[in-house]
Amino acid sequence: MKKISNLFLSATLGLFSHVALQAQQAQAISIIPAPNKIITDRGSFSIDRHTTIACADENRDVALFLQNHIQKVTGSNIGISVDGKNGNGKSGTGTIRFKTDKNLAKEAYRLKISKNGIEITASHNNGWFYGVQSLIQLMPVPGGDPSAVAPVEIPALTIQDAPRFAWRAFMLDEARYFKGMEQVKMLLDEMALLKMNVFHWHLTDDQGWRIEIKKYPLLTQIGSKRKSSQVGGEWKSQVQSAEPHEGFYTQDEIREIVNYAKERYITIVPEIEMPGHSSAAIASYPWLGTEKKEIEVPIRWGVGKDVYDVSDPKVFQFLTDVLDEVMDLFPSKVIHIGGDEVKYDHWKASPSVQAYMEKNGLSTPAELQVFFTNRISRYLQSKGRRMMGWNEIMGHNLHEYQDKADTRSDQQLARGTIIHFWKGDLSLATEAATNGFEIVNSWHKYTYLDYNYQLIPLSKAYGFEPVPEGLAPKYHDKVIGLGCQMWGEWIPTNGHMHYQVFPRIAAYAEVGWTRPDRKNYDSFRSALPNLQKRWAQRGIYYAPDKI
Ligand code: ACM
Repeated sequence: MKKISNLFLSATLGLFSHVALQAQQAQAISIIPAPNKIITDRGSFSIDRHTTIACADENRDVALFLQNHIQKVTGSNIGISVDGKNGNGKSGTGTIRFKTDKNLAKEAYRLKISKNGIEITASHNNGWFYGVQSLIQLMPVPGGDPSAVAPVEIPALTIQDAPRFAWRAFMLDEARYFKGMEQVKMLLDEMALLKMNVFHWHLTDDQGWRIEIKKYPLLTQIGSKRKSSQVGGEWKSQVQSAEPHEGFYTQDEIREIVNYAKERYITIVPEIEMPGHSSAAIASYPWLGTEKKEIEVPIRWGVGKDVYDVSDPKVFQFLTDVLDEVMDLFPSKVIHIGGDEVKYDHWKASPSVQAYMEKNGLSTPAELQVFFTNRISRYLQSKGRRMMGWNEIMGHNLHEYQDKADTRSDQQLARGTIIHFWKGDLSLATEAATNGFEIVNSWHKYTYLDYNYQLIPLSKAYGFEPVPEGLAPKYHDKVIGLGCQMWGEWIPTNGHMHYQVFPRIAAYAEVGWTRPDRKNYDSFRSALPNLQKRWAQRGIYYAPDKI
């Protein structure tokens, strides 16, 4: 009896220590977001100047991306062969091979590293690209003198990986401060490394219009400029910069950025705010507002009262004209129309808006907003696109400046709209999902990157759960993912933006990618220095560790 139990004990211990060792080794693999399955092995693969890449036509672009990166790390321009065997041809040792397995989901990949070679298997370029991103994170950070670099050793392991959510977004607000192409490309690079796939670009707001629209040149001639900016870090601050601010993207520049994102498997979802947050447009063309009066591009933050005159056919024409040019530039299926924080005072004071409401049987301004939003939705649908908007578009009453009576609404929002949940009780998100809407969860308490690190420390960002508590499991697939939002009011400089975004973006990337049972904050923290090195190398001034 004693003997048996001893044997049993040692076998159990043996098994346990093996599992524990594997877990420990997997933990030592610093990849963010954490892959969903890692099996470590003995030995390593060495990338040197004799290494070659074997790929097929369909994954050649990703292979070139890897070749380019290896050159940055090692200084060697290793060879690529396109062997035309769908990536499944034979090769000798020392090869990084792109293989195809059509059974894998679009963004899934397998990465197998042994001492003889590396295999990256996927069914689409998205998957190959993510396999390459994991491989890149296993290599040293590029920089310094590549000619002095010894062969790069990559630990032997197998990763099987696929994202938890399809929508893994980062939002940049450039309406408040224009940051420019270089910063946007940097952000796209970092998103790609973190396997994020949606760049939500907030291009218009009260304080600035940042996208060239050929049919309405004043939008950028007037709307992209303001005289000064509120500073001081508080909404009530009376301090002004007394320095002008301006900037916008030409259509050619937008195309360049869209293409840059595409090469990184990132979709750019443009946001064109309507019917509120529209002062910069109204400053450019006063007939867009209900008051038909000249205004200046605001120099203070906060929610303006100027709103589009949605009762005027010319204004609706303007909006669809703008959307036409936007759709020409952005291939994204989803177009974001904002819809948040609409103040109803001007609509209530406008005889033509009141007459329009009566004609269409609309009894509250919230009903008018849903009615207007549905018209826009139908327009986008007629062009094969899909509308997305902040959760006010459902007629939710979220703001104390709104009268309860004004936000009563019996109007039904068009099916197929994506609800971008940001504010209000979580039950509103649950209600939207149970009513059949897909939602992206960007609950401000957890995902607003303009909030300081006291309000949203790294651990809180990491702990964000996009599926609202209490949502019945049969509706979980309605939550298509999450966004994290870099609102720009208080970040005039690039460095301040870096500080707010990094490292929290890495936490949100892991929330979007890694299954909850694979997430571990301590492991995430120990993997972070790898990214920090990379960020430092490329001039990203991330917030320090003790946050
Ligand atoms: C928002 O923060 N106004 C969506």
